Amino acid sequence: MSSDRISLTRPDDWHLHLRDHATLATTVPHTARCFRRAIVMPNLKPPVTTVTAAGEYRDRILAAIPPGGSFEPLMTLYLTDNLAPVEIDRAAATSWLAAVKYYPAGATTNSESGVTAIEKTWPVLERMQELDLPLLMHGEVNHRDVDIFDREAVFIDQVLQPLIRRFPGLRMVLEHITTREAAEFVAQADARIGATITAHHLLYHRGHMLAGGIRPHLYCLPILKRDVHREALRAAATSGNPRFFLGTDSAPHPVGEKESACGCAGVYTAPAALELYAEVFEEEQALDRLEAFAAFHGPDFYGLERNISRLELVRNDWTIPGRYHFGAAEVIPVRAGETVRWKLAGGA
Ligand code: NCD
Ligand code: ZN
Repeated sequence: MSSDRISLTRPDDWHLHLRDHATLATTVPHTARCFRRAIVMPNLKPPVTTVTAAGEYRDRILAAIPPGGSFEPLMTLYLTDNLAPVEIDRAAATSWLAAVKYYPAGATTNSESGVTAIEKTWPVLERMQELDLPLLMHGEVNHRDVDIFDREAVFIDQVLQPLIRRFPGLRMVLEHITTREAAEFVAQADARIGATITAHHLLYHRGHMLAGGIRPHLYCLPILKRDVHREALRAAATSGNPRFFLGTDSAPHPVGEKESACGCAGVYTAPAALELYAEVFEEEQALDRLEAFAAFHGPDFYGLERNISRLELVRNDWTIPGRYHFGAAEVIPVRAGETVRWKLAGGA
């Protein structure tokens, strides 16, 4: 591999927020330009809690794929206290329905309908275990008395470990991990536990968001942590360990809802996601491991075929646009107006 070109199997994004309706005209092309598949999060308003609603949402996504594109959305169901086990039977029988997403109630954007106590979902989790449907977790506790920087580590101790013991056959993904504790936990857990890692948690720490002025476009949940945690995530992502795979958690919001007295959580990375991961892997002298992280570990975990088509990144500085149309509003991407070192060959 020349140091100015990277050729890799077309990757997938195993954690993505596409939003809905008019904004799909922005988000779907941004992701489809380089990712073949994506796990689409169900935290719409109202949340996607039935296979029927997921199917309708999927149709709207498919209608937004640019002509000639081959993007495949893999849909998820939003777990609530009231989700019926029979919905799991329907989900497991639907080829494009890939997983169920757990949000603790109130933990993040559009999580009001999330789970109030994990025990309430046990019958559903039992059915998922029987039918081998994976559980994707927003891994934070949402208690007022737990500091926001500790919420992931406390989740691992108080929720995840008991869950792993109670459901020994359930496959689980700890989504968008942000701490050394999470990276270490997943690395030593058994093979049915995976984790996604975002580009922004590999690139930034809390100082980037808070020192020298507050940068709302870097505010996401789980929140950016200290630099030692970023270092641990970089080590995990570039380790070659198949339990870690690419999931952008690209989560766009209208600019007015980010630049606000009470701004929304979510970072919009999709316009340059793969290129940003390439920067990190290059800095870690691990470009030869980017392909497995981005294109092999995810499908292997989910039991899906790896993609066959390929793409190329070239070393070529370009500037990320300052903003994009986003329905009737605009969205500001990560690193707006700044340079990225790698560029998709033939990409716009
Ligand atoms: C996500 C969103 O905006 O939907 N926000 C975020 O900060 N990551 C929700 C989530 O994944 O927590
Ligand atoms: Zn997310």
